[in-house]
Amino acid sequence: MRVDDREEVTPHTPITAPDEITYELSLRPRTLKEFIGQEKIKENIGVFIEAALLRKEPLDHVLFFGPPGLGKTTLATIIANELKVNIKTTSGPVLERPGDLAAILTNLSDGDILFIDEIHRMSRVVEEVLYPAMEDFTLDIIIGQGPNARTLKLNLPRFTLVGATTRTGMLTSPLRDRFGVICRLEFYTPADLTEIVRRSADLLSVGIDADAADEISRRSRGTPRIANRLLKRLRDFAQVKGDGKITMQVAQQGMASLDVDHLGLDDIDRKLILTIIEKFNGGPAGVEAIAATMREDKETIEDMYEPFLLQEGLLERTPRGRLATRRAYEHLGRTVPQTLFP
Ligand SMILES: Nc1ncnc2c1ncn2[C@@H]1O[C@H](COP(=O)(O)OP(=O)(O)OP(=O)(O)O)[C@@H](O)[C@H]1O
Ligand SMILES: [Mg+2]
Repeated sequence: MRVDDREEVTPHTPITAPDEITYELSLRPRTLKEFIGQEKIKENIGVFIEAALLRKEPLDHVLFFGPPGLGKTTLATIIANELKVNIKTTSGPVLERPGDLAAILTNLSDGDILFIDEIHRMSRVVEEVLYPAMEDFTLDIIIGQGPNARTLKLNLPRFTLVGATTRTGMLTSPLRDRFGVICRLEFYTPADLTEIVRRSADLLSVGIDADAADEISRRSRGTPRIANRLLKRLRDFAQVKGDGKITMQVAQQGMASLDVDHLGLDDIDRKLILTIIEKFNGGPAGVEAIAATMREDKETIEDMYEPFLLQEGLLERTPRGRLATRRAYEHLGRTVPQTLFP
């Protein structure tokens, strides 16, 4: 099992045990001050929030994008907390018909945050409801059909839309253009992740040695959600096989049992690279072909697995498909083919 399954229960995501959800909630920072890393975003959002409060105006619409588990949902809830307004949460695939979105919009109050997760998976007809809502806080209702059809304009409360997506590439430009603030979340540095691990260990009341915290952060693929999951699993190992404290030894043995290697890759990451090396002679291979060979979903590969492997220089994305790099061969202990890397 992967250690970073998403926590939200949406149609395409696997169901996560309820205790995992509570656990995510309890570790989730509630204020900008508690939020570790992503300094640029924090600073900018802080300014925009303060300005909105000073002018007593709603915050401009905000779009967060980046790989899963980096804090998009967390930032949406933080914005609501800092502005002291309500947040209503929904997601792209849940909004099936324009009426679904219209019902939510008309139930908002002035200043409220509407958070739409996986906004790139919203259907086109639903998306069109959002255009006038975002721009003029109005809802266009069409009454009747054919030549007798009329459009009624309904005023909406002045709300702030916060959208989250793992890919901006899949947002239409009319939608993207209506966001006043667009923030790209980056993978976290090991130093930030160490701080996150320490904070979470504190909240979970589990002791952890400094070198063990560093080890977890190095193996978390730059992702707080993975760091938290690893921490929780290692707490189990520490309780059952040790004296309750997460030492370096517990961390190393635990991560070996979880098949997490020293770069933080797990069995599916390795399988992805191995598929390219073994089945496609190192590539280039199209992502559809790779997904079919691995029996994985193409979108899952692109969203969850690839970004970190690309950043680490284990994969390369070329117009003709994915390539395994020299580093990938070396990392997996494979002979580097001289024909590909002379
Ligand atoms: N900066 C941070 N500091 C501390 N913990 C964080 C930070 N960012 C995220 N987390 C933790 O990581 C978990 C995942 O974050 P979050 O759910 O916000 O990610 P996401 O970007 O919305 O992911 P997805 O794309 O899968 O919805 C949260 O439960 C939170 O506890
Ligand atoms: Mg989320």
